[in-house]
Amino acid sequence: METFLIKGGTALNGVVKIPTAKNALLPILACSIMCDGVVVINDCSRYTDVNYMVKILTELGAKCSFENDCLIIDSSCADKFFISEEYTKKVRSSIFMLGPLIARFKHAKVAYPGGCNIGTRPIDLHIKGLQSLNVKIEEKHGYIFCDATNILSGEVHLDFPSVGATENIIMASVFSKGTTTIYNAAKEPEIEDLQNFINAMGGKVCGAGTSTITIEGVKKLHGITYTPISDRIITGTYLIACAAASGKVCLTNTNPNHNTALISKLKQSGCKIQIKNDKITLEATHRLKSISKIETLPYPGFPTDLQSQILTLQTISKGTSVIIENLFETRFKIYTELTKMGADIIIKDRMALINGVKALYGANVTAPDLRSGAGLIIAGICAEGYTTINDIYHIDRGYLKIENDLNLLGADIKRLS
Ligand code: UD1
Repeated sequence: METFLIKGGTALNGVVKIPTAKNALLPILACSIMCDGVVVINDCSRYTDVNYMVKILTELGAKCSFENDCLIIDSSCADKFFISEEYTKKVRSSIFMLGPLIARFKHAKVAYPGGCNIGTRPIDLHIKGLQSLNVKIEEKHGYIFCDATNILSGEVHLDFPSVGATENIIMASVFSKGTTTIYNAAKEPEIEDLQNFINAMGGKVCGAGTSTITIEGVKKLHGITYTPISDRIITGTYLIACAAASGKVCLTNTNPNHNTALISKLKQSGCKIQIKNDKITLEATHRLKSISKIETLPYPGFPTDLQSQILTLQTISKGTSVIIENLFETRFKIYTELTKMGADIIIKDRMALINGVKALYGANVTAPDLRSGAGLIIAGICAEGYTTINDIYHIDRGYLKIENDLNLLGADIKRLS
């Protein structure tokens, strides 16, 4: 088991390029099984979740290979629609295969998904949405069996704008005759990227980025070369890291429009932020003011995937902050670890009350999940003394050797095995 050893007390300065987004890559890779030709994904960041998705595609019969940073997927010989527990337990995004398998084979057998340990993550919205398109679904012995022989186009009304359910229903409907409309769809930029990917292959999806998405059925999708969007959560994590540690960082290859909620909060707390094309520069010169209230919401609200990191920043800001987590009920697991480092946090249900302290102190802590792990790295960089973080495999699911980027900016992080 690898750990991080962080020597705290360093400011962050310099320039870092942001890689392509995990949450864009995963549905795009899943969708590539629907393509008749060869799909080439440029700058395919090899997060461990992405590597698992490549293994799933290979298991289904697709030929996948990396040439430098390009992933080449030839799905012409894919011939299976079964995904075993071995993969679904490791990567929750394997649930994204439901829609593509249904579209391509009219059948799917997928074991119940696992993934990040952040509370119950039901899939009822995926199931209900597909059922409303006349997909027959049975759940037995830990598997979801789908029979889409008689899939229809139609209307899907989501009770909540779930990202995964929206993506699954889009993909399931690409080859349906007629037009399917999703109401109360999620508006995340990664859904727009999936739409662009499908349309570049000859699909007809429209409206992603708004709450109403339409999918006009087409007969087939052809091969393409595609570059996914950059990772807004990595961008956000590095901005918060610099805000917490002080210094001046410039992030390139990012889309500032995808992080407006965070940028507004960081400006409120006293950071200077400059935006130019695909670059964000953040400068923090002193201890920041606490942000009085932060509430996680579906996009364009404040992202739940940056909640642990902003919570960490609040622990050393001046004043009191309240954070409300509306998406995942157990996403405050970082609090016990930050408390070991001297943070003053009270948790009540979905609310955290944080009284900023002057300093955190190095400790031996454990990453409870992916984004909490990122929060702990930020805490370690700011803390006095040495911090050891255990279970860093969680962090590798969604960051590409995060220590390399942060060390480039001046942090002192060692990966120990
Ligand atoms: C995606 C992101 C994840 C992010 C989350 C919310 C990917 C690979 N992952 O996850 O990083 O944290 O969006 O922005 O893109 N829900 C149900 N029933 C369902 C589906 C979801 O009740 O069938 C609930 C969930 O419990 C949660 C909320 O809806 O409370 C949001 O989940 P959803 O948007 O589906 O998140 P994911 O697609 O799993």
